Amino acid sequence: MKPVRVLAIETSCDETAISLISVRDRAGKPEEVKVVGHLVSSQIPIHQKYGGVVPEVAARSHVPETVSLLTQALGKKRMNAFDVIAVTRGPGLPTALSVGVEAARTLAWLSKKPLVGVNHLEGHVASAWLDGHKRRFWQYPLLALVVSGGHTELVIVEALGKYRLIGQTRDDAAGEAFDKSAKLMGLPYPGGPQIEKRALQGDKTKFSLPRPMRHDGSFDFSFSGLKTAVRNTWDEVKTTSADLEQTKNDLAASVQEAIIEILVEKTIAAAKAERVKGVLLVGGVSASSALRNRLGAAVKKQLPGVHYLPSMRKYVTDNAAMIAAAGYWRYQLGDLTQWQDLDIDPEWNIGV
Ligand code: KG4
Ligand code: ZN
Repeated sequence: MKPVRVLAIETSCDETAISLISVRDRAGKPEEVKVVGHLVSSQIPIHQKYGGVVPEVAARSHVPETVSLLTQALGKKRMNAFDVIAVTRGPGLPTALSVGVEAARTLAWLSKKPLVGVNHLEGHVASAWLDGHKRRFWQYPLLALVVSGGHTELVIVEALGKYRLIGQTRDDAAGEAFDKSAKLMGLPYPGGPQIEKRALQGDKTKFSLPRPMRHDGSFDFSFSGLKTAVRNTWDEVKTTSADLEQTKNDLAASVQEAIIEILVEKTIAAAKAERVKGVLLVGGVSASSALRNRLGAAVKKQLPGVHYLPSMRKYVTDNAAMIAAAGYWRYQLGDLTQWQDLDIDPEWNIGV
């Protein structure tokens, strides 16, 4: 069978990304997926001076980057370089999403190729599927822990494109908890990697921080109380500490421990309750080695026979290869949109 080449555009937040993947269906076997192009232009340096993402600045920065990356990805073949166009239409920042969606609509009109609107969170789920070694372990149902700067969700993947949201954060996302805690301690954006680096030198037992909703029996999360506790602790120690750098390391280690512990506990409980065959770990926060290792060890110990499927590091933070993968699924399901009808959906959740 001829491979299907999917061109994908992602502009939902602060990364402009374009990808081209080629998927060959091998009747009855896992598909063969080649990531031909994987271009990501991060706006982190632009937003760093504001301490977080500024939506208007993000949208404006996407415009020239989208054009530049598209021309790079398509090369001389231009409209002949792809068979299907996939684009993130939500959830995300409305003006940022509009840039990608309008580019995709224009390309679909010019090329007359099929167009697919992709859910960003489905893209994160699909990021784990890009791992060719693990694709054969995709046996449903699967449980996905989706942890990013905007989302913390437990999603049951019943089948390709069929989701059930069984838990989510009631306030801040896990990535946001990392980012806000780091900001309170004067560490730059994004805070997750900073906290992880500091935590390596810190003592996680130094500060006792809350684990909200730990024993409430639900699969929901809450991280805003943690942020308040970090603020109170930091306000207290920053004037009394004899070694402020070490105190920062200790607080970073304690915050990281609190977030990881609750994520791992709830994921394992959900996997047991739903009797899943595999556990996916996806989204920007899954860049954390500490989280990857802890969840992996917990799955191995507490869920015998269940496969642990974290997405590869190069696909954890926002990228378009994952959107292309989810776009391919949608294309297979026949979920196409006319270019005249495609619109952004900033609040679009997965599984609802
Ligand atoms: O998926 P992503 O790139 O963007 C969103 O869709 O939000 O995730 C970005 C988030 C940020 O909050 C960042 O602090 C967090 O992922 N992150 C980490 C680490 N690397 C990135 N959090 C904890 N530990 C890390 N090593
Ligand atoms: Zn994301």
